[in-house]
Amino acid sequence: MWEGKLSKRALGMKGSEIRRLFRLSMQPGVISFAGGLPDPGSFPREEAASVLSRLLRERGEVLLQYGPARGDEELVEVIRERMGRRGMDVGPREVLVVSGAQQGLDLCAKLFLDPGDVVLVEAPSFIGALGAFRNYQAEMVGVPMEEDGVDLGALERTVEGLLGEGRKPKFFYTIPNFQNPTGTLTSQEKRRGVLELARRYDLLVVEDDAYGELGFGTSDQEVRPIKAMDEEGRVIYLGSFSKIVSPGIRLGWMAGPEELIDRFEMAKQMLDVCPSPLIQAMVVELHRKGFLDEHVLNLREIYRSRRDAMVSSLRRHMPQGVRWTEPLGGFYVWVTIPEGRDALDLFHMAVERKVAFVIGSAFYPDESVRNVFRLSFCHEREEVIEEGIGRLGEATRAFLSG
Ligand SMILES: Cc1ncc(COP(=O)(O)O)c(C=O)c1O
Repeated sequence: MWEGKLSKRALGMKGSEIRRLFRLSMQPGVISFAGGLPDPGSFPREEAASVLSRLLRERGEVLLQYGPARGDEELVEVIRERMGRRGMDVGPREVLVVSGAQQGLDLCAKLFLDPGDVVLVEAPSFIGALGAFRNYQAEMVGVPMEEDGVDLGALERTVEGLLGEGRKPKFFYTIPNFQNPTGTLTSQEKRRGVLELARRYDLLVVEDDAYGELGFGTSDQEVRPIKAMDEEGRVIYLGSFSKIVSPGIRLGWMAGPEELIDRFEMAKQMLDVCPSPLIQAMVVELHRKGFLDEHVLNLREIYRSRRDAMVSSLRRHMPQGVRWTEPLGGFYVWVTIPEGRDALDLFHMAVERKVAFVIGSAFYPDESVRNVFRLSFCHEREEVIEEGIGRLGEATRAFLSG
């Protein structure tokens, strides 16, 4: 009855193979390094409960009402202060509170992309961004990643090539801090290079900083966002409270030039009217009490120790010929198996041995690279990580010798 009525846009939306694989990885007894879910034990349940109950009693009439579409002014101040500490100076009208960075990605696609428009992405890149851009029928062109960020030479050649065909890309989407999925920290030189290229070719930069506060001993300078160097208003910055408070509160923000933020606000208002006043007030309180800063320090320790457990287990258990990244922050390790092998085949052998990961091809716009996969160290405790990587090492040895 409804099939013939779907829009072309809806017909282009496809459920990914990843979802099917995720189901396999959720069988009982399987240790899963697949999802990027934050550690549930670290959610600030007690603090949130006491702040929320007080807010509801004292300001319930306002906080259970609709609020401003752009976000609560006090939260915008908190966001500006937190960005300011990281070298980004944005005005109060240059911030839009959104329900998670994911919504910011959708809004970028909505505002900038007509069907067939070209977007440049890091290859590999975050699946949620690729999906958001694909939903608006954009064409994504991947630019390879190197150890210290995107390959700038390749980025320039790609732009030149596209311009030669009369196809000007709209923006470059990048995750400079502890990238999902590779864990890569983009060097400051490369960040400058990206901005310089964007200026030269008149591109926008969409900078996703979902993991920017989760460095394990990195200096402020190393994680300084591209936005901090943006004098022209060329960078649209996406921030998130998902990894530093909890993803279930669905709270993030975008920062960019005021006229653009006004447009984002108009688009967002028609999506969900306003962000939750109650949740925004809760985050303001957690920040003001000093809780949030302390909490971030604890999270860094939790995830650093899990990263250590994963990396040292990989060293112990992985056979020759397998390489992986050793990230300085964030949630992910990226593993490369020998050329010509398909991580999907290894995935099935791993699941038989009750351990799972996400195959890497899903993170490429054209799914072309097959010998890679992503491991998340964020969700499991150290002993489970060690056990899981032991199983994965066994599966990989059997796979490579088969
Ligand atoms: C790079 C990146 N951007 C954005 C998001 C989505 O964040 P949010 O929960 O704020 O929508 C994620 C979540 O995994 C992510 O890894």
